[in-house]
Amino acid sequence: MRHFSAQWRRSIPTGLLLLGVMVLAGCAGEQYPQSSLHPKGDFAELVDGLFMNTVWWATAIFILVEGALLWAIFKFRGKPTDAEPKQIHGSTVIEIIWTVIPAAVLAVVAVPTVQTIFRTAAIPQASAEGGEPLLVEVSGHQWWWEFYYPEYGIRTANELHVPVGRTVDLRMKTVDVLHSFWVPQFAGKRDVFPNRETRLWFTAKEAGAYPGACGEFCGEQHAKMLFHTIASTSADFDTWVTSRKADSVAYAMPRSAAQIAADTTAVAPVVPVSAQVAEGQRLFAMKTCSGCHSLQAVGGPKVAIGPNLSGIGSRRYIASGWLENTDENLKHWIRFPDSVKSGVKMIVPPMTDAEAEAIVAFLRTKQ
Ligand code: CUA
Repeated sequence: MRHFSAQWRRSIPTGLLLLGVMVLAGCAGEQYPQSSLHPKGDFAELVDGLFMNTVWWATAIFILVEGALLWAIFKFRGKPTDAEPKQIHGSTVIEIIWTVIPAAVLAVVAVPTVQTIFRTAAIPQASAEGGEPLLVEVSGHQWWWEFYYPEYGIRTANELHVPVGRTVDLRMKTVDVLHSFWVPQFAGKRDVFPNRETRLWFTAKEAGAYPGACGEFCGEQHAKMLFHTIASTSADFDTWVTSRKADSVAYAMPRSAAQIAADTTAVAPVVPVSAQVAEGQRLFAMKTCSGCHSLQAVGGPKVAIGPNLSGIGSRRYIASGWLENTDENLKHWIRFPDSVKSGVKMIVPPMTDAEAEAIVAFLRTKQ
């Protein structure tokens, strides 16, 4: 016995250290924002409320049960001089009690659970504050997300823009295998299927950029099927809508300064582009990028093989939320997509560093 207790005593510091680490990990909420414990919308608040409700019930029961156990251990602990205690086998009364109490507890917890299930599964309705819900059609692709706004005709990818205060009504499908749409701070996970539409809704309450992910294993790059939800004030959201529409004019072929000067038919002011940007634009078509990617948010092809690149110059991330949108990362992604996401469908013909740089310079102009 002495040997065991000495060993046990030695492991106390390690145990305390582990406990400390676990407690401190719980404080890192802002650093790891992809958590349903920091709700920023009504749907997530309902789920979080249910969770906290259950946690408090469970804590109270834990304290009662463990308190009674500790009390019994100390109160009825044996002494070396005690005789062997009376042996008991089975007690119908006690067994009924310890079956009925947990059943009653579960029945109590079931009430808010079922209420929350029905409330979150309801079809979103127009409200006095937010007006009509904003419909967004979501499509899952291996391995990126497409978002289409029928109200504005805007198509985009990997960045879901939503206005604060207006409910978003997501109608979701997939073009290939099963995926699962998940923005923990706004709503619970919802699987998406190829042949059946699933729905999800939420109302953002706070502006910001919130990470989201695919929550269902969907192949080699499932872990890199990320996206961001950009919640902004309704004025900022309107600005985004306007900018997406403005950028949707099909890009004219680049012209020389002399051609522009000689053009007497031009009515709109021509934005001068550098030789590198013009070269990038030419390469974008030449290197077959334009075969899969549309640069137009409005009026582009309906079925996109690759993500829509409207506004790619100002997106926060590339490669479906995996890489920060720096020139260096974008260049690497364009030249060697398979080294970033092995198995990705982006097939790129060989290109030089300078060619990739030109394409990056061109894409940067798509703000
Ligand atoms: Cu899509 Cu996992």
